[in-house]
Amino acid sequence: MDHFQHRSGRLHAEDVDVAAIAKQVGTPTFIYSAATLTAHYQRFREAFAPIDPLICFAVKSNANLSVLRLLGDLGSGMDVVSGGELHRALEAGIPAARCVYAGVGKTAPEIEAALRAGIGSINVESEQELETIATVARHLDRVAPVSIRINPNVDPHTHRHTTTGTRETKFGIDAERVPDVFASVRDDPAVAVTGLHVHLGSPIYETGPFVAGLTRMLELAERVEHDGGTIDRLDIGGGFAADYETGRAPDAATYAKAICPLLADRVRRGTKVILEPGRAIAANAGILLLEVVVRKTSGRKTFLVCDGGMNALLRPSHYDAFHFAWPTTVPPSLVPTIRTERPELDGLEVVDLVGPICETGDFLARDRSFPPCDRGDLIAIFATGAYGMTMASRYNAMPLPAEVMVDGSDFRVVRRRETVEDLLTHER
Ligand SMILES: Cc1ncc(COP(=O)(O)O)c(C=O)c1O
Repeated sequence: MDHFQHRSGRLHAEDVDVAAIAKQVGTPTFIYSAATLTAHYQRFREAFAPIDPLICFAVKSNANLSVLRLLGDLGSGMDVVSGGELHRALEAGIPAARCVYAGVGKTAPEIEAALRAGIGSINVESEQELETIATVARHLDRVAPVSIRINPNVDPHTHRHTTTGTRETKFGIDAERVPDVFASVRDDPAVAVTGLHVHLGSPIYETGPFVAGLTRMLELAERVEHDGGTIDRLDIGGGFAADYETGRAPDAATYAKAICPLLADRVRRGTKVILEPGRAIAANAGILLLEVVVRKTSGRKTFLVCDGGMNALLRPSHYDAFHFAWPTTVPPSLVPTIRTERPELDGLEVVDLVGPICETGDFLARDRSFPPCDRGDLIAIFATGAYGMTMASRYNAMPLPAEVMVDGSDFRVVRRRETVEDLLTHER
């Protein structure tokens, strides 16, 4: 599934011993694998080839310019949700026409920047936003390409914080109101509303919710066309699961098998399909490398305190998310064969992996079966290439981690580690 494997008991990123990266770059450091990013992108391309979609990588999952450039060179477009993300995508050389722009709170200046750049589609999330888009487009004397993000009221069976397509979340426009919204702008020359968009939430471990959301979207497309409108693109969003735990996530081919047949007819009739995977491409393409700073006990608990915690990787504390973690150097008998909470290996102990932040909620893994470790040891947190660095913070005045890209036997720093001086930059 990815190119982070122990070889003779030492963790390698592709052909690079990660201990060599730690020695040169320090910790905490996110390490990305170019080969894994490429393979996961290609897997989506191949699986969905029958409907030839535009794959728009979700920049919110990993916004590093080198990651965006790599995917852009493979043909990827970008799914952005802010002026800042669009700026990054453009800076990475992605044509604006290959970018789609969602988000519930786009400001007029952000919309103006997107239209000036030549954005492929603005995925509108409310009637008021549509008014703003029309006003800005009129002012610029441009026609805004718009898709309507529908809220289909489909439960993706995932964490409540990342559920976006059920009634009474803040996302999209209730499906029942969508035909009226189309009708309201049909004669407005400032906006070309010719697309539909849906994103249910993430990660979604079943194909059923995708099928339900898509079915709702297809019904609406028919209805809009029946009323005299045009639909030339359908954006089915992201939320495809990553391989956080061995054997749990469906692969791209499984999703494609359920989704492609539903869209084949429309694609034959000229509709463009857009996908917005983020984590399914980037999560397994990254690890977070940490050093154990302190080993301590409290009551019956053993803590390994690392040099990065919720400040570097928020997902465990924010979503109770599972990330497999393992020391980078282990005896051959402790090389993990599957990534799970309790690998069936002899000689493990139960520990909490925590960070340095002054919160009891600052943890990376709790009650985890783990090889014996002590201060100075290096630990890898797996599947952190998505929603790792993009959600990292400077809480407790912690400088942001470094980011490294590995390609075969080479590696380079693609974002240098912040310093404590960097933290003061904007206050002077
Ligand atoms: C509109 C939209 N598209 C795509 C994504 C990407 O989700 P994932 O990284 O789970 O594929 C998100 C995630 O929040 C989203 O909000």
